[in-house]
Amino acid sequence: MRRVVASAPGKVTLFGEHAVVYGYPAIVASIDKRIYVNAELREDEKIRINAQDLRTSGVIVSISNGEIQITTDYGRTLSAIGYLNKAIELTSEYLGVRKGVSLEVRSEMPVGAGLGTSAAVSVATIAAYSTCLGYELSKDEIARLGWEVEKSVQGIASPMDTSIATFGGVLKIWFEGSTIYRVPLHVSSELPLVVSYVEREKSTRDMVMWVKSLKDKHPELVNGILEHIGRTTLEAEKVLVEGNLREVGVLMNINHGLLEALGVSSRRLNEVVYTARMAGALGSKLTGGGGGGASIALTLPDNIDILTNVLRLVTPHVFRTNIQYEGVKVNHLSD
Ligand code: MEV
Repeated sequence: MRRVVASAPGKVTLFGEHAVVYGYPAIVASIDKRIYVNAELREDEKIRINAQDLRTSGVIVSISNGEIQITTDYGRTLSAIGYLNKAIELTSEYLGVRKGVSLEVRSEMPVGAGLGTSAAVSVATIAAYSTCLGYELSKDEIARLGWEVEKSVQGIASPMDTSIATFGGVLKIWFEGSTIYRVPLHVSSELPLVVSYVEREKSTRDMVMWVKSLKDKHPELVNGILEHIGRTTLEAEKVLVEGNLREVGVLMNINHGLLEALGVSSRRLNEVVYTARMAGALGSKLTGGGGGGASIALTLPDNIDILTNVLRLVTPHVFRTNIQYEGVKVNHLSD
């Protein structure tokens, strides 16, 4: 298969980010915004990446015989390119085949805001490239390779983002060593969510490293906070399955407070989170790595217009989202 397009969804972490890195459970949901990777095998050995739509304008990078040529340099897009490049490298190693490929990437959501775009880029690239090479990897294989990509680019990462980008749905996830546990949850209600994001001051990697250093300095305190995040997640599982949105909201607020105690929120993020509550959200929290980036607010459907409009007074980057259950998907274009 010479030309393939694969896509993977973004995600919101409903509960448990950061604690999941230390083996506690998290609950994560795929959303209706996706990353698309178009892959086409080349006659030469080059990897050519065209990331026209990764939030900033275009950048073209050519990698040949270990030499990287960057035609345009846009910070956040470049970090996404690290994931693309690693995804090709690790997939080639795994399959024992390496071919030149042109990749074109398109995103329906802001990149690097905490919505799991790096995982979606990695997973969609692995799926597209392996299909081009004539392999049909299982979802387990794609998720595992995706996790390797994230660990190798970020230094430390949980399998949460790559699992949800691969399998989709609402998942309770935790891991012990290299064993990943994934439990699909059947949420018995719509979850009307409004996502708002503010400029990212720090990357997920920075924030994960920050929590690690805090934990090294204050192990008892930080372990206690992480354990409480884990407990919040388990209580949230019950009320989500019951469809008790009011209680889900209360637990989101508790989760945000615990993340704040870990130092991963920011003044701007808190402003958005508290504005959402003032505008009638049932609950609100940062979502993902923090240090700026995305937050989610849960609302009853009849309040969604007011909530969206009030949030737009604080940041222009506000959108409504729904849970969308489809994980990674491959479309064959041509031989
Ligand atoms: C990032 O979306 C979530 C974190 O928990 C990091 C990870 O799980 O790898 C902050």
